[in-house]
Amino acid sequence: MEKPDKICHSLSRRQMMIGTAGVLAAGTALTQLGGMLKSAQAKGSTNEKWPWPYEKLDPVKTAEICYEEWYRVFCGCAVINSVFSQLGEKVGEPYTSFPSDAFVFLEGGMVGWGTVCGSPAGANIVANLIIGPRIAGSPEGHQIANDIMQWYSEAKMPIFKPAKPRIAIDKIVTTTSDSPLCHVSVGKWMEASGHPLKSAERKDRCARVAASTAYRVVELLNDWKDGKYEPTATFSAVKEHGITGQYNCGECHNDVPSPPMPSEKS
Ligand code: HEC
Repeated sequence: MEKPDKICHSLSRRQMMIGTAGVLAAGTALTQLGGMLKSAQAKGSTNEKWPWPYEKLDPVKTAEICYEEWYRVFCGCAVINSVFSQLGEKVGEPYTSFPSDAFVFLEGGMVGWGTVCGSPAGANIVANLIIGPRIAGSPEGHQIANDIMQWYSEAKMPIFKPAKPRIAIDKIVTTTSDSPLCHVSVGKWMEASGHPLKSAERKDRCARVAASTAYRVVELLNDWKDGKYEPTATFSAVKEHGITGQYNCGECHNDVPSPPMPSEKS
């Protein structure tokens, strides 16, 4: 296998450190877009009532519920259920009638296609249902989702250790995926650990990744509830590269292609 191009990667990382200026610019862009899309929303959609009521949750308890749920409904659904089952008990509707099990299809990066990992996908569904979508003037749901994507890509996973692990692993191998893709995240871990996809170890690793992600999204939502949420993600492939994407272009492209960029006038 060819070595990833670390130059592009570290450059992007440095660009990510641009900091608040970039975040503010992203926020402004979202707000403008929000204004633009509002009329479209009024015509075509039903039932927008945001924010959904949120009560602060215990991240550890949430992660424990998520870990157990993984063994029933897998990553995306486990993350959603770990938050919504508790909110169903604390606040009731709309959580009690929300069909979380419908999201089992997020497993394996969407029905086994290895695209976006179900854990960040589930966390982002949670954040956007609670806070509201950017087109309804709620950019924070979108920003928390952005934070989750970058955090997931950079974290040494799995982070969370369940109180009662299903299998006894003294020291679980941790890997950084540098990607929110299931295929990349699971693949790097399998390569480092030597455990195949169907092994009990790989399954427990993914249950812990889901639990780690549930923990993180609750931390962010608790901050938001307290009015002290600050976006942490600073990267925008669209802005920096003129195409949707993750930050480490060089890991897949030997020569990073340049998509057509808009002219100054457009
Ligand atoms: C996870 C792997 C992966 C990452 C990361 C990635 N790409 Fe790609 N990209 C691909 C694949 C696969 C294709 C299609 C095959 C091809 O043409 O190389 C593609 C196609 C493209 C194309 C279409 C034109 C072309 O030459 O193929 C552009 C432009 C592009 N990528 C730009 C980028 C940029 C810029 C980044 C970083 C912001 C990036 N890509 C990150 C995998 C990736």
